[in-house]
Amino acid sequence: MKLVIDHVSRSYKRHLAIDDVSCELTPGIYGLIGPNGAGKTTLMRMLADVLRPSSGQITVNGTSTAVLGERYRDLLGYLPQEVGFYSYFTGERFMRYIASLKGLPGRESEARITALLRLVQLEDQRHRKIGHYSGGMKRRLGIAQALLNDPKLLILDEPTAGLDPKERIRLRNLLSDISGERIVILSTHIITDIEFIAKEVLILKDGRLVRQDPPEQILHELEGKVWSVQIPAHRLHELEKQYMVGNIQRRGDEALARIIADRRPEGEATALEPRLEDIYLYYFGDQPERDE
Ligand SMILES: Nc1ncnc2c1ncn2[C@@H]1O[C@H](COP(=O)(O)OP(=O)(O)OP(=O)(O)O)[C@@H](O)[C@H]1O
Ligand SMILES: [Mg+2]
Repeated sequence: MKLVIDHVSRSYKRHLAIDDVSCELTPGIYGLIGPNGAGKTTLMRMLADVLRPSSGQITVNGTSTAVLGERYRDLLGYLPQEVGFYSYFTGERFMRYIASLKGLPGRESEARITALLRLVQLEDQRHRKIGHYSGGMKRRLGIAQALLNDPKLLILDEPTAGLDPKERIRLRNLLSDISGERIVILSTHIITDIEFIAKEVLILKDGRLVRQDPPEQILHELEGKVWSVQIPAHRLHELEKQYMVGNIQRRGDEALARIIADRRPEGEATALEPRLEDIYLYYFGDQPERDE
């Protein structure tokens, strides 16, 4: 399957949220990153067919999704950034409800519901009301419903938001396992979510797609640009004026700062191995947002 985003733009009134994005996606995992407001959700909503592009089109194996209609939606699994759960539904009832919306036959879907609830470790919570679930449990239920129709195209908008580190690792492994013949697109602010599993990283900045490359390639380009600098803590602000500064470790009066610089900075600097997190700093000149 080949999914093509062909010169897609989307504006809200006069604000251009997605600006002429083009790319080709084939089976594998794609990590979509970009700061708040970059347009990730807008792009994903268009891919999920809940929002129309203002211009351009999305095609599957050459046919526009506008033409495919229902046949396109049958291929899709979508986890929105915010899922509107009915809090008085139990997890199981919610899954049945989504299965019927997707037109899945009853008997088949019962077995699938059980398997998916097990997969996201909610089997023992299936008879509890969603209103009593924790944030992470709701997220996992959202992931389970996106998988109900065994989608060939899986769109997950911040699937790891609110998951604890152990759950995040489980989700990462799960996505790796199921990716096979599927196209999986996930957005995240946590770069480690995609570092090891993404075939390609898509970087959105102000609605434009500024990169689409394998993580190794992006990392390779950062080689020789990441440094650890040790300076007296009172001089940190000078450093911040000069360079893009990432993590800072304080050790009494001294500070150890991770910075991005094309050449070796002055003073006590050591070259560091680039990490995918550094690209956030490199492209957005700011620290990545972390929720851990
Ligand atoms: N329904 C809407 N009406 C008007 N403007 C909107 C609407 N939805 C999004 N926008 C604007 O479009 C831009 C892109 O928003 P979007 O939600 O796609 O970003 P995002 O990358 O998903 O951000 P986040 O990381 O915060 O989820 C923002 O400037 C936002 O204010
Ligand atoms: Mg978003």
